Amino acid sequence: MDVFKVSGNGPLNGQIDVGGAKNAALPILAATLLSDETVTLRNVPDLSDMRFMLEILRHIGAETVQPEPGVWKITSKKITHIAPYDLVRKMRASVCLLGPLVARMRKAEVSIPGGCVIGPRPIDLHIKGLKKLNCQVEISNGYVHVDASEIQGGPIFLGGRSGSTVTGTANIVMAATLAPGTTRLECAACEPEVVDLCNMLVKMGAKITGIGSPELVITGVEKLHGCEHSVIADRIEAGTFVIAGAITRGDVTVKGIAPKLLGAFLDKLEEAGLPMELGEDYIRVLPYQGSLKTVDVVTLPHPGYPTDLQAQLGALMTQTEGLSIITERIYPNRFMHVPELQRMGADISIEGPSAIIKGASKLSGAPVMASDLRASAALILAAFAAEGDTWIQRIYHLDRGYERFEQKLAAIGAKIERLSDKDMPKELLED
Ligand code: EPU
Repeated sequence: MDVFKVSGNGPLNGQIDVGGAKNAALPILAATLLSDETVTLRNVPDLSDMRFMLEILRHIGAETVQPEPGVWKITSKKITHIAPYDLVRKMRASVCLLGPLVARMRKAEVSIPGGCVIGPRPIDLHIKGLKKLNCQVEISNGYVHVDASEIQGGPIFLGGRSGSTVTGTANIVMAATLAPGTTRLECAACEPEVVDLCNMLVKMGAKITGIGSPELVITGVEKLHGCEHSVIADRIEAGTFVIAGAITRGDVTVKGIAPKLLGAFLDKLEEAGLPMELGEDYIRVLPYQGSLKTVDVVTLPHPGYPTDLQAQLGALMTQTEGLSIITERIYPNRFMHVPELQRMGADISIEGPSAIIKGASKLSGAPVMASDLRASAALILAAFAAEGDTWIQRIYHLDRGYERFEQKLAAIGAKIERLSDKDMPKELLED
């Protein structure tokens, strides 16, 4: 198995480019099933999650061609309505096949994805939305079975305990594009990735208004056609690189991202006193003296502070003087990285849904275990600030959502190497 060896780092310096957004590309790939014509997608990141999704699409009947890196041409002439467990279990986001299958096939059988280390990942809102679209939904043998023969647009309130749902919104919008009548979706997710999906659907001929707002109005059409679409930049990857610059006190230009996609995140870093220069499509992190200031952050649906940048900010806050509080409102269990940071010397306690971080810890390298995608990134960032070598195991989590992570960072001076666990000192290996 691959591991990362990361050594305490001086300032990173240079430009780092942002790739396509995983969380936009996944539902967008699923949306290609909505038409029997060819959809050409650009800026698709090369990630293991994309490979899982493409594998499922091929199983469903899509033809997938990659004419050049980052570009996929997908044609779904004859497809089945079944997404089986052995494929779906590899990736929770495969739940967003429900919407396109319901729309195009008027029926779907999609295995319910398993649990996840960051907390329960229910799909009750997806099901509620489909029922509101007059679908019959049944759960049996680990599958969601949907009969959409009588599908009909209508009013839907899609909010749950934590507010809106990202993939739930994607599913219901996709299902509604080909449903007779008008669907008025309230409490829709406003994440830029949902906006990107809606923009792509409009290019396919869908009628959607209110894009980017919590109220989407979708007027069903008879057919969708092929289109060309370039996937939006990955704001979470960009934010992770911003923190890499900040934690090493470097001069790093994160290129290919519109700062407005990261409003709440940049606001917090500004509050912390991080000097930055913002351009139309870049964020430049500048070196600073002394300590950054502490922050009090609560994760919320967009435009609030994103949960997917919570762990990384926590890593940075281990290096500021004073107490920072990070409260996780989307996935209250999303602190699996904390015990690993503690092993590196971080002073963090968990109080209910909050991590209380006492900063200015002297971190030292240690063997640590990645538990999920963003936790992996947080451990690597902390390792840049640590003295000595940190060995990070289970980095397959990172490969799900960061493209060429170590190559991009190494190119601006990071001491990070992908090795095999066989290269690790024996006494550091997990059992
Ligand atoms: N929720 C429900 N019922 C549902 C659906 C969601 O109660 O039917 C709750 C969840 O338990 C959670 C909240 O609503 O508390 C928000 O969940 P959401 O449905 O928005 O999450 P998701 O669509 O499953 C996407 C991203 C996640 C990201 C979240 C929140 C994709 C493929 N995944 O998940 O990304 O954390 O939105 O922004 O888009 C990641 O990239 O590391 C990642 C986990």
